[in-house]
Amino acid sequence: MDTNRLSPELEKALSDQMNKEIHASHTFLSYGIWADDKGYGGIANFLYRHAQEERNHSIKFMEYVLNRGGKPKVDAIPAPPNDPNSLTECFDSVFRHEVDNTTSIYRIVDLSLEQKDWATWNFMQWFVKEQIEEETLAQNLIDKLKIAGGDRASGESLFSLDKTLESAPDDVKMAQDATGDNP
Ligand code: FEO
Repeated sequence: MDTNRLSPELEKALSDQMNKEIHASHTFLSYGIWADDKGYGGIANFLYRHAQEERNHSIKFMEYVLNRGGKPKVDAIPAPPNDPNSLTECFDSVFRHEVDNTTSIYRIVDLSLEQKDWATWNFMQWFVKEQIEEETLAQNLIDKLKIAGGDRASGESLFSLDKTLESAPDDVKMAQDATGDNP
């Protein structure tokens, strides 16, 4: 008896997303190594933690497909992009990767809606929310670097930016949790 509760298209889309999250993990790992090598240990630490989050996302897709009776397929993962030339390029690229991933998440939401697969639609809402957080985190990186002086930042402000990012939290407060007392 066929116990697979996913359509072939959704099973493939979810499996592809599992692989895409690993690609994101490798990309941030690679950027982390670049930052570490340049002496930015705090920024590297932030990127390594982010790489681990992306791996966790991949595991969630793997588990979901298995739970629904499907079988995800691990594919060859494309090489991460070349090293950035500057911190600005690095953070801009982190943001672009997140936006690209959001587009991919939305495509699966669209497909689940089209197929009335409410279980998958519901599962995907966690990722819709997660992408808001991740895009905000990436925007914050860009903003912090701009405040520090961008690519012309002094050694002192880069030192302090690096220190801040070492212990920066991996999540952000969501707009829906804001109140007048605690905006
Ligand atoms: Fe798994 Fe940054 O999205």
